Amino acid sequence: MMRPRMPLLLASFLLSTQVQALDYVEDVLPIMREHCWKCHSNENQVKGSLALDDIDEVRDYQIGKYNIIRPGNPEGSNFLEVLKLDSSHSDFMPRKGESLPERQITVIENWIKLGAVVDSENPAEDEKEWLSDTPTTGVALLQKYVTWTSSDGKAVEARFHSLSGEAVKIVMKDGRSFTIPFSRLDSDSVEQAKKLAGAR
Ligand code: HEC
Repeated sequence: MMRPRMPLLLASFLLSTQVQALDYVEDVLPIMREHCWKCHSNENQVKGSLALDDIDEVRDYQIGKYNIIRPGNPEGSNFLEVLKLDSSHSDFMPRKGESLPERQITVIENWIKLGAVVDSENPAEDEKEWLSDTPTTGVALLQKYVTWTSSDGKAVEARFHSLSGEAVKIVMKDGRSFTIPFSRLDSDSVEQAKKLAGAR
């Protein structure tokens, strides 16, 4: 009988709290595409000199200590502020549109809180520096997806997050995280967990 691999493996793991591993390209850009494209993309128009589809420009001109997106400082980020305004306010964004759903605003807020990294697969020097100052979130952001195999031979792709005692916390592509006791992993995966923890 065919049995689905993923659900079985996941069911055997302990579900723990969510961890945010967020970056612009994967998490924020889709929200921008949905709500801001008409006025802030090179495909259409670039209002307010803000081209949200130009990744390098976003990184170089919109993100920074004194720019509209301030890494680690959502409260000081005008970019977030305009999204939270009442839609009747003249600075409200998306202009002439409706407020973003709360969950999307939370994604953007957390993204800024975690350093407003543009592309975690390919971080710039200062992004790496920022990430190294915030080890737990930073490592999760920088890690590549690797394969984890359970002691009974089932495999998942996930990022290493951290060790806690004799267990490893991993983060799936959809953002869910799991803490897996070493006793449930094959020995190669246990070694991998220790190695990745040491690389920090
Ligand atoms: C219907 C057009 C329209 C849409 C849709 C829109 N904007 Fe804007 N946006 C503007 C205009 C026009 C300006 C320039 C405002 C000004 O100069 O008064 C602007 C300016 C801004 C600024 C200020 C830029 C700066 O440097 O001060 C931010 C931030 C911004 N928009 C974010 C967004 C985001 C994020 C979205 C999507 C959630 C969005 N906007 C959707 C029209 C729009």
